[in-house]
Amino acid sequence: MKILLTGGAGYIGSHTAVELASAGYEVVIADNFSNSSPVVIDRLETITGKRFPLYEINVADKAALEKVFEENKIDAVIHFAGFKSVGESVKVPLSYYRNNIDTTLSLMEVMDKFGCKNLIFSSSATVYGKRASLPYREDMETGPCTNPYGWTKLFIEQIITDHAKADPDFSAVLLRYFNPVGAHESGLIGEDPKDIPNNLVPYIARVAVGTLPYLSVFGNDYPTKDGTGIRDYIHVTDLAKGHTAAVNFAKNHKGTEIINLGTGNGTSVLEMVKAYSAASGKDIPYKIAPRREGDIAECYADATKAMELLGWKTDLSVDDMCRDSWNWQSKNPNGYK
Ligand code: WQD
Repeated sequence: MKILLTGGAGYIGSHTAVELASAGYEVVIADNFSNSSPVVIDRLETITGKRFPLYEINVADKAALEKVFEENKIDAVIHFAGFKSVGESVKVPLSYYRNNIDTTLSLMEVMDKFGCKNLIFSSSATVYGKRASLPYREDMETGPCTNPYGWTKLFIEQIITDHAKADPDFSAVLLRYFNPVGAHESGLIGEDPKDIPNNLVPYIARVAVGTLPYLSVFGNDYPTKDGTGIRDYIHVTDLAKGHTAAVNFAKNHKGTEIINLGTGNGTSVLEMVKAYSAASGKDIPYKIAPRREGDIAECYADATKAMELLGWKTDLSVDDMCRDSWNWQSKNPNGYK
C-alpha cells in the first residue's frame, strides 16, 4: 500500500514515515517546508534506507496535488499539513482558517477525483475545549475551543465527518493527539520549532542545551498536585506507531472514527523539568511566571478506545521522552539549520 503524508517532513509526519516504512508501507511526502526542513528527507533515508518520493508543494494547490495522484496510486492519505501554533493562531486567525481549511478541502476534492477513499487526520485534544471533564473521552462534547488553531481542527473534523456521511465508501479516522514530545532514538530527526518554542518540552530542551537562559513556568497556583499545569505527554514514536495501527484498521473500515492518542497519564510542568534535568544531566533554571492565557489546569486522555479498536497503546515513559528529546537536541543544538 502507498500512503501519502501531507506535511510529511514535519515533526509528527517524519516520525510516522519511519514507522510506516518499517511496517512495509510505501511512503510519498508532500510538503512546502513552511514549518519543516528539506534536510529531513536525507535524515529519513539514513534511518530507513529509503528515499521517499518528495513533492515540494502547497497542499492547497490542487493542480500540484493532482500531479501527486497522477504519478502515484495513493491508497490512503495521512493529513498532517497545517499551521499548528496556538499563540500564532490568536495573532493571525485568518491565515490559520485559510491555510488549514483550504489545504483540507483541496486534498479531499483531489482524493475524490482520483477515487482515494481513505483519510487519516491529524487532530488534537484541543478540540475538547475547556469544559471537558477528565479523562477526555472521544464521545464527549467538543468545544468551545480556546483558540483559532483549535477551531480549525474542530471545523476540519466536521468537514471530514460530513463528507464521510455523503460517501458510504469513505473511511475517515480522526486522531486526537495529546502532547507529542521526544524524538526518534537515532537523534537524526526531532522537533525543530521555527522560533522561540511555545511548547514546554522543546523550550526546556533549549534551556538544557544553553540557547535559552531559563524556563518560565506559567503559573504554580493551579488546583493540581504541585500547582503547575498537567498534560498527557506522549512519545512521538508511540504516536507514530498509532498512525500505522490506524492505517491497518482503516483497511476494513467505512465511516468516521474518532480516536485519542495519549498515554492516559498526566505529568506536571515541574515533574517534566525534573525528568529532563535527570535525563540530560543539566540544571534547568526556571522562574514562576503568571498563568498563560487560554491554558487549562489539567488534561489527559482516556486511552481505552485506541487499545480496543487499534490494538495500540503507548510503551515509552516520560523518562524515555526526555532521554530521546535530549539526544536529538544535544546532537542538533540548532535543529536542522
Ligand atoms: C504544556 C504545559 C503550560 C511552555 C498545545 C496545543 C496542543 C498541542 C500541544 C498541537 C502547560 C506549560 C509551556 C512554557 C510552561 N499542539 N508551559 N512554560 O498548551 O498543553 O498544548 O501544544 O497540536 O494542541 O494546545 O502544550 O507544551 O504549550 O504547555 O509552563 O514555556 O506547559 O502552561 O501547562 P499545551 P504546551
